[in-house]
Amino acid sequence: MTAASSAPRQLFVTTALPYANGPFHIGHIMEYIQADIWVRFMRLRGHEVHFVCADDAHGAPIMIAAEKAGVTPQDFVANIASGRKAYLDGFHISFDNWHSTDGPENHFLSQEIYRRLRAKGLIATRTIDQFYDPVKNMFLPDRYIKGECPKCGAQDQYGDACEVCSAVYAPTELKKPYSTLTGATPVMKSSEHYFFKLSDPQCVEFLRAWALDAERLQPEVANKAREWLEGDSGLGDWDISRDAPYFGIEIPDAPGKYFYVWLDAPIGYLASLKNYFARTGRDFDAFLADPSTEQYHFIGKDITYFHTLFWPAMLKFADFKVPNNVFVHGFITVSGEKMSKSRGTGISPLRYLDIGMNPEWLRYYIAAKLNARVEDVDFNPDDFIARVNSDLIGKYINIASRAAGFITKKFDGKLSMAWATQDDRFLSQLRGAADDIAALYEAREYGKALRSIMELADHVNAYVDANKPWELAKDPANNARTQEVCSRLLEAFRILTLYLKPVLPTLAEQVESLLNIAPLQWGDVYNALPDQHIVQAYAHLMTRVEPKMLDDLFEPPAAPAEENAAMAVDTVGAIEAIDAEIKIDDFMKIDLRIAHIVDCAHVEGSDKLLRLTLDVGEGRLRNVFSGIKSAYQPEQLKGKLTVMVANLAPRKMKFGISEGMVLAASAKDEKAEPGLYILEPWPGAKPGMRIR
Ligand code: 2FM
Ligand code: ZN
Repeated sequence: MTAASSAPRQLFVTTALPYANGPFHIGHIMEYIQADIWVRFMRLRGHEVHFVCADDAHGAPIMIAAEKAGVTPQDFVANIASGRKAYLDGFHISFDNWHSTDGPENHFLSQEIYRRLRAKGLIATRTIDQFYDPVKNMFLPDRYIKGECPKCGAQDQYGDACEVCSAVYAPTELKKPYSTLTGATPVMKSSEHYFFKLSDPQCVEFLRAWALDAERLQPEVANKAREWLEGDSGLGDWDISRDAPYFGIEIPDAPGKYFYVWLDAPIGYLASLKNYFARTGRDFDAFLADPSTEQYHFIGKDITYFHTLFWPAMLKFADFKVPNNVFVHGFITVSGEKMSKSRGTGISPLRYLDIGMNPEWLRYYIAAKLNARVEDVDFNPDDFIARVNSDLIGKYINIASRAAGFITKKFDGKLSMAWATQDDRFLSQLRGAADDIAALYEAREYGKALRSIMELADHVNAYVDANKPWELAKDPANNARTQEVCSRLLEAFRILTLYLKPVLPTLAEQVESLLNIAPLQWGDVYNALPDQHIVQAYAHLMTRVEPKMLDDLFEPPAAPAEENAAMAVDTVGAIEAIDAEIKIDDFMKIDLRIAHIVDCAHVEGSDKLLRLTLDVGEGRLRNVFSGIKSAYQPEQLKGKLTVMVANLAPRKMKFGISEGMVLAASAKDEKAEPGLYILEPWPGAKPGMRIR
């Protein structure tokens, strides 16, 4: 009898590719933990698992954010990517590869898939009218258009729905629309777009078979897919192109056209695998062509549509393997509230680690709350403390701490296992649960799996209480019995550790070294510790959660963490105290003007200053030295408008006379949060205009 009954399988597993426009939030970490537990479980079962992810690099928002930050989109994305490792290592996520959708593999694969779809007659072109920003010279995605609600007249509403009266409309229906990028009034402009013909009968037929196969999607996901596939409007063709300027992959034979980010993003799964296989000398094409290869994607419920319709159809008609399944999870809420980055409600993953909270507590807690349905998971601080302290430590860890000490102290670490036959009733009950627990893990019913394991732990604790090793140990006449009871407990602890290993990989490693055994595999449930085996002296395995840690977790950090310093907008962190009150006359003494940066250059011999040549419309140019070299290259500033103090007394400096000052924003503590940001007026401002 063995629990590792299934033949080795080869699996390709992914999590959704996060946009490279900000650091991970707790929602990302939850998804990675869910997938990682599954992957680790599959590996313990002896299956070959390739687990990859990547940054989702393309699209207008990243292009615009990079422009605002004054860097190329490539540099912007690279900066975000450089922050990923701390989180992934920190929470013990075992990806085999982390790549980018802007890598060469993705350019190649996206264009290849497109060519194959085109060869099948599944690409069409159509001219569509869209809002265009005449100042920025680009078509405007809906999210960059605001205006007055056509129903209730509320101002500054987005192009799709009104936040005041909840009306839903098209951006073209907005009154007084404006571009949020420049403030300009958008104009209608037509352009040719490329479409993936999802309405083609062969696509519809394939998707019905794939998505509605009773064995495949979770029931609630299948219901959604049925609505989409069989609803009145049916499947529409999918607009897969965007016009330049766009940060993305060029469409072959279509100058100035790029793939919409959602076309190339899932192809990034394959690109990351291809990159990883090339690095490790494996054959990507052969792996994907092998009918026994299984492909699974873990995703959040908000991106179900893309993954259950577009993605399988793209793969199918480009003659690639189609996914075996897509595993959809809900969102994470905190004390019942939707996750928000604002103070006090969000959990920052890096802060969690920084204040010394154990990542495996979070893995355990999230696992305990997860099931195979698309339900939201709530992080509740009191519940977190209770689960970790009462279950994980109280029921499981304590078994080792109660048994191992006696084995070390009284028996030089030596076990007595001569009694351990497979008929031992106590241990048989523990081992007998292996197949059920395995089935629960495989079905992603982690909450149920952990409940079963904790019931077994209760059973072991009942044995402890019935046999009282601390009483036995008092009388040397009981030595044989003490050694046997404690050995049996360590064997029980070994089995429980194996069951928990997908969730608590680092703890399992510590236990393996404590027990002095090779890394546990699922089949080892039957391989009892041998008689006379020597274990290491007991070292503390895991501490309890201090309730104060949860307070710290939710308190706004005193100094901004890495995630706040990243380019994404984030307002957490103390600001400099506001100065003493002044009168309007005091303010009016300062003459602030719009200045045109006519020229900008490095200052020889200075590592802080840039020399600005400014025009404030007074018929002469001014020379101003400014300590902003750390933040800007001269080329970035030349030609821009900014704000200067025009009536500051000229100041003689080492490098010449400075005739004024430009304004720049910086954080309270520039060491903790470096960065200088000069001001730029909205379009329309002219040099010399006064700011009041
Ligand atoms: O919703 C998102 O965050 C997307 N970046 C997910 C992409 S998943 C896959 F298609 F790449
Ligand atoms: Zn309205």
